[in-house]
Amino acid sequence: MIRTIDEKRAVLQTLNREQFEVVNEAIMECCVGNQYDAPMAWGPGGKLVFQWPKRIQQALDTLEAWRTELGLESPTVLDVGCWHGKITAELLQRGFQVYSTDLAENMGQYVANLVGQLPEDCQKRWGGFYGGWFHEMNFMDCDFVLCLDTLEHIPDWAFEDTVRALGRATKYRVYVNMPPADDWMLHLRSGESNNLYRLMTEGKEVYGKT
Ligand SMILES: C[S@@+](CC[C@H](N)C(=O)[O-])C[C@H]1O[C@@H](n2cnc3c(N)ncnc32)[C@H](O)[C@@H]1O
Repeated sequence: MIRTIDEKRAVLQTLNREQFEVVNEAIMECCVGNQYDAPMAWGPGGKLVFQWPKRIQQALDTLEAWRTELGLESPTVLDVGCWHGKITAELLQRGFQVYSTDLAENMGQYVANLVGQLPEDCQKRWGGFYGGWFHEMNFMDCDFVLCLDTLEHIPDWAFEDTVRALGRATKYRVYVNMPPADDWMLHLRSGESNNLYRLMTEGKEVYGKT
């Protein structure tokens, strides 16, 4: 029985590219609507209220702070590993312009569906969904790049190119997070593994939370 993230990751590493895509799409499809990140909490008066999980709230707060600090009214955000689009939708409602990307092509319908339920001004700020491997995309000049809970899913053979692509895609800053179960962020920071952290920054600021 597979138990830890490391063990699961080791299994994914054994798949070739095509197998990985099939498995990833299947996992993502069956995750939609599950309790992962269920954003509810008990509010005043014992009522259930909406509340983002801390890891997402921290990212949203940081993007808001950057927008104010840099004086950008409606910055563009590239949501890498957007999954079914809940963060994309939140950013659109906060006035950001958003491009959504995910390896799992079948997520496009979920994101489009979610965005389609938003007010028209939000929909107008959406730059669309792009399916496929992020390191093969040519995004550039996005004010901010957001990559939440995604890097840890990327197989070793695509990892370095993905990190480079994150750096290439942004004009100002990248926000990355990874679950604390592994110390990948520390690994990036330490400059090991071909100096990935340096490659990623290339003069740009990179922030990360584990
Ligand atoms: C756990 S979900 C995270 C979703 C969302 N960012 C969040 O924080 O809730 C990871 C997502 O990354 C996507 N993904 C994995 N490898 C990718 C790659 N190489 N390029 C783009 N997306 C990728 C998966 O399909 C999945 O939707």
